[in-house]
Amino acid sequence: MKQRKITVAGAGNVGATAAFIAAQHRLGDIVLIDIIKGLAEGKALDMSQAGPVEGYDCKVTGTTDWSLTKDSDIVIVTSGMPRKPGMSRDDLLAKNTEIIKAVTEQIVKYSPSSFIIVVCNPLDAMVNAAAMISGFDKNRVMGMAGALDSARFAHFISEKLSVPASSIDCLLLGGHGDDMVPLPRFTKVSGKPLTELLDEEIIEGIVKRTRMGGIEVVNLMGTSAYYAPAAGAVKMAEAILSDSRIVMPCCAYCDKEYDVGGCFVGVPVVLGAKGVEKVVELELNEQEKKAFAASAGHVKDLVEKIRKMI
Ligand code: LAC
Repeated sequence: MKQRKITVAGAGNVGATAAFIAAQHRLGDIVLIDIIKGLAEGKALDMSQAGPVEGYDCKVTGTTDWSLTKDSDIVIVTSGMPRKPGMSRDDLLAKNTEIIKAVTEQIVKYSPSSFIIVVCNPLDAMVNAAAMISGFDKNRVMGMAGALDSARFAHFISEKLSVPASSIDCLLLGGHGDDMVPLPRFTKVSGKPLTELLDEEIIEGIVKRTRMGGIEVVNLMGTSAYYAPAAGAVKMAEAILSDSRIVMPCCAYCDKEYDVGGCFVGVPVVLGAKGVEKVVELELNEQEKKAFAASAGHVKDLVEKIRKMI
């Protein structure tokens, strides 16, 4: 089988970590690209030298030259400014729209058949921008947020219940912001709904901490999280490359689904060889519907701002 090619745009914390995890998981040859001269080259050389220790022998190339990304199967876009303390994800909108535009144009030029997995913030808005700019089929453009937010949710639940996170199946909906909608009713621990295992008040505390999961890390270390976001992006790439058809929440195009009306926003999807193969529709109650509509409405407001910028 032809060796797969994964490009990671942006060699900062998230990008470099994603490239490293992708190499460790032997996803294919990896191209790490950044505009800062030497940054991607140095990190790629370092990762190549970790190969003999870790036992991977894929090619890891660092570059500033987009032509080396030609014919990538997947492009993970991490390029963009990260949050600093005191900033919301939305504060990054103008700057990161410029960046996603430049990056997406290069993806269209060199890898017109690729899948795009966006990681930069504000996440859902940036996915919508990448889709508008690329004109790619909507199943080929998606964003990594649900993998991260549900992992955070699972981690907090596992701590509270003293059970392994691997026994927890989390679901959530909505944009990757403070108004995201973790779904305790659809979250199962060894098959049992979370709502049967913990008191409402405790669940509410976990939901709140999940919503603020990003800023908790920013406030601790002064910059945005990267291990979990990178792991989430690689998990999505892996699902596509292996055609696993796993169900996981990610930012995907919804029209009639959940009555969204034509916007990319966080929903559970089936991820396989065709990218987003299906949006999974859950029977939401009124409260969940309202919370999701508010979050999707917020994403749409940002998308309107982007339309004026690109
Ligand atoms: C976070 C950033 C990546 O939630 O949005 O940590």
